[in-house]
Amino acid sequence: MNRRQFVGALGQGSVAAVLGLNASRLLGQSSGHEPPVDCSPPSHGAAKHITFNTSAQVLPRKSVWDLSSTESARLASAYAALRALTVSNPNDPRGWMQQANVHCFNCSGGYQASNVEIHGGWWFLPWHRCYLHVHERILGKLIGDPTFRLAYWDWDTYPRHAIVPPPFMTPGALYDQYRGADATDVIPASITGPAHMKIVMGTQGTRAFMGGVSDPVHNHFPAGAMENSPHGPVHIWTGETNPSESPEPPGCLYPNTPGGQPMDQSQNGCLDMGVLATAAQDPVFFAHHSNIDRLWDVWLQTPGSQGNWNTSTWLNHPFNFYDENGDWVYITVADVLAQKEQSNLRYTYQPPQSATPLAAVVGGQNRRTRVKTTGAKLKQLTVVSTPAGTAVGTKPHVRSVTVPQTHLKGLQALAAGGPRRFTLHIDGLTLPSNESTIVDVYVGEPNANRTTEIGPSFVGTFSLVVPGMHHAHPAVRDAAFELRPETAALMVGQKKLTVTLVPKLVNGAEPAKSNLTYKRIYLTEGDN
Ligand code: C2O
Repeated sequence: MNRRQFVGALGQGSVAAVLGLNASRLLGQSSGHEPPVDCSPPSHGAAKHITFNTSAQVLPRKSVWDLSSTESARLASAYAALRALTVSNPNDPRGWMQQANVHCFNCSGGYQASNVEIHGGWWFLPWHRCYLHVHERILGKLIGDPTFRLAYWDWDTYPRHAIVPPPFMTPGALYDQYRGADATDVIPASITGPAHMKIVMGTQGTRAFMGGVSDPVHNHFPAGAMENSPHGPVHIWTGETNPSESPEPPGCLYPNTPGGQPMDQSQNGCLDMGVLATAAQDPVFFAHHSNIDRLWDVWLQTPGSQGNWNTSTWLNHPFNFYDENGDWVYITVADVLAQKEQSNLRYTYQPPQSATPLAAVVGGQNRRTRVKTTGAKLKQLTVVSTPAGTAVGTKPHVRSVTVPQTHLKGLQALAAGGPRRFTLHIDGLTLPSNESTIVDVYVGEPNANRTTEIGPSFVGTFSLVVPGMHHAHPAVRDAAFELRPETAALMVGQKKLTVTLVPKLVNGAEPAKSNLTYKRIYLTEGDN
């Protein structure tokens, strides 16, 4: 019996008692609500720069499947110690719930005073890398083992490892009862299968892969390809694997907390992993993010990759954490990049021992140059512009414009294998804060639908993971998709830019409803 059937059988009232919510889960959570209404950090003074242990051994982070039984037991004992700390001292900033709240208070609205949002843009990859590092140090310290390293969940070793890693499904410290995924559920191929991974990992542009400059003041949150998918859908899938089969209500174990909106799991999104505010309460979060972090390194080595951002605003940006001694510290982005990743953080990623090397999967031209702007850029080609917002709905949503001669020339060059200078933008994607969404985006395939295979017309996936229902304001994102030569060829043949948005649940079913709207769809050329 999985969690949803279990909940359905018991009814919501008795669930908390049976699962011991008040006894174990909520211990250490100040408010007693789920998810935390306010997950602000315990009080602290000014942050000091973290001290890196540059003489520690450099050791591999391995796939969970490549751990020896000793290493697997060590992983479980580290999380057991983390959970025990939350029980013995709920205010210790290193304990399990406090650690999970670090993720929560870095999500917009989780900690109202901060207005920090490390999702939806260029902070996404480096912030999570820093978070993994302090988390790894804390776990190592708690078990007195400086050689402890995290393990990653290589869901892209498909389909063999596209299941919740078995040690995380075994009763014990790595297990989380708030998951929709059962031991035999496999992540759909459209999320982590080879065809999708090839497109994501073959993305060349820095903004397209890593995300762009986020601007909370103007509500611009441009997530990159990796964050949009597979990152988001794997969260949603782990939390709620078969949303269309869930009993309603309640499905999710969120009580309808006063002041909060009830979670609507029919729209994807459920405890723990399916909601950003609670995601890091599930130990598999750290295995998931270790894989994202590993794939960032793989991407940097992939032919055509334009590499990391290199502006000082990004490089010098500090993130705050509690370290393994409970001290409030900061780490800058530059601290964790390139050779610093190894010299400061003391790990390498050992490739999955049983997988096809990703470079062989991605292929592509052996060229690593930043795209130079030569001459004037083409004007933006607008497909839709509706400042008040256009509803996407639950069925495929198609919009089209004729491509002018000026743009056809450039697209022909791209179709012939020229540099990837064209970007499709969807701006102002907006959702209420209790709803997640997954939308596949196609260009040049007017009849694309939920069964369309990933091919030349597929440009990417937009996803949004529920921040948490206490985050009062709607979530807003800007999406950008780099066009590939084969997609440009379709546009040249049709002399049209036809964009099809295909909403779907994480299991591929049609959503029962959707409140997703957007403001603009347009094409740009040159650096964006
Ligand atoms: Cu901070 Cu996977 O989300």
